[in-house]
Amino acid sequence: MSSRTLIIAANWKMNKGPQETSDFLNAFIPKLDGFTGSADIVIAPPFISIPTAVGTLGGHSSVAVSAQNVSDKDNGAFTGEVSTDMLKELHVEYVILGHSERRSIYDETDAIINAKVKKTIAAGLKPIFCIGETLEEREGGKLESVLRTQITEGLKDVSDADLANVVIAYEPVWAIGTGVTATAEQAQDTHKFVRSVIADLYNTTAAEAIRIQYGGSVKPANAAELLGQPDIDGALVGGAALDPDSFFGILENS
Ligand code: G3P
Repeated sequence: MSSRTLIIAANWKMNKGPQETSDFLNAFIPKLDGFTGSADIVIAPPFISIPTAVGTLGGHSSVAVSAQNVSDKDNGAFTGEVSTDMLKELHVEYVILGHSERRSIYDETDAIINAKVKKTIAAGLKPIFCIGETLEEREGGKLESVLRTQITEGLKDVSDADLANVVIAYEPVWAIGTGVTATAEQAQDTHKFVRSVIADLYNTTAAEAIRIQYGGSVKPANAAELLGQPDIDGALVGGAALDPDSFFGILENS
């Protein structure tokens, strides 16, 4: 069990417009009365549903709202983009950055992700900075070099002080949406390695403090074992976070 406060986040990806967001939260919020754990809870709806999420939560202090992406630019002529200013106006607290779907489908490079991480931090928002290897990379013995590069490049020029507002999400690409979860041992070993990279790049105090979530087919049935590992500080949940009972089931197992 980690000594850091767990952070359990729902990444809805491109699911749930405003109506479904409201339906989910109206079913989910009452369940929190029975939640005795201490994990930080985060919901990341699509941009268009963020106002509904914020309004429905109505300042429910135990649930924070995250975006799933943000522009690295200031407001201006950038068609289709959403700025940190706009997210702040809606009281968004976190921004998921570097998700493997952004990396592989939308060609986001480590440099682009780094620019977004720095912009997010500069705006006073907190990045949930995702990293992860493909199966080919893992089986080819490249796990550590891939993760070290993603971390080094993605957090380039992020100061010790600013690192305190960063959450890392380790999501092995082969475990995302596949039903195949990393074993608790595989996840623990990799989280421990990620923490050692932070110690190399920063220092041991920063490495001990940073929260590292696991993501990839987390569900109520495997949450307790994963979250019971000493270096796993939470979960970034996709499919199992689309249903209020299932997402609450993960919280109950935290
Ligand atoms: O960001 C969460 C994610 O990619 C994991 O998705 O559906 O495997 O829980 P899923």
